[in-house]
Amino acid sequence: MIAPTSDAVLLARLHAQCFSEPWSADSFAALLANPGCFALAAEDGFIVVQVVLDQSEVLSLGVTPAARRRGIASELLSAAIKQAAECGVITMFLEVDCSNFPAIALYKRLGFAEMGRRKAYYTTPDGQRSDALTLCTEIPARLVGNCVQLG
Ligand SMILES: CC(C)(COP(=O)(O)OP(=O)(O)OC[C@H]1O[C@@H](n2cnc3c(N)ncnc32)[C@H](O)[C@@H]1OP(=O)(O)O)[C@@H](O)C(=O)NCCC(=O)NCCS
Repeated sequence: MIAPTSDAVLLARLHAQCFSEPWSADSFAALLANPGCFALAAEDGFIVVQVVLDQSEVLSLGVTPAARRRGIASELLSAAIKQAAECGVITMFLEVDCSNFPAIALYKRLGFAEMGRRKAYYTTPDGQRSDALTLCTEIPARLVGNCVQLG
């Protein structure tokens, strides 16, 4: 089940299983203290989103290796879009490493389109540089509400 969470320790534990450079619980606590930042978690995955006025950005999304290809990231992203939309968000952005084919396939399947590229934005643990793609999706008007800003 996907639910909102402010549990920084849980998010750090999930993040560490998904990424080679883990974010600490303190980092998640600091992020979640920002106005407009929210997180959703399932047993095996999480998403963190920053909302600013009618724009939003996915700050992190991960599903633990054993739970992949079961639709969990799709559900997390869809739930995050719905939550952001309820607060008046009309656009969602994210950045993804151009070599991260699973994530790019996921995002494109959910309607994100490429709108920019940052050259040599990421450095891999072995020192290689790779570009970041900026992806964006317009949130369908039927989902967009006008509740009070998060945070
Ligand atoms: C990217 C990630 C979040 C996908 O999570 P997931 O729960 O496996 O994704 P889903 O099951 O919802 O996949 C939905 C669709 O995305 C695409 N997709 C996902 N993983 C894929 C893969 N390894 N290869 C090709 N397509 C893939 C497919 O179209 C898939 O649909 P299908 O399974 O019916 O073919 C997960 O692989 C992950 O946590 N990776 C490491 C962290 C990361 O890269 N996060 C994103 C940073 S921007």
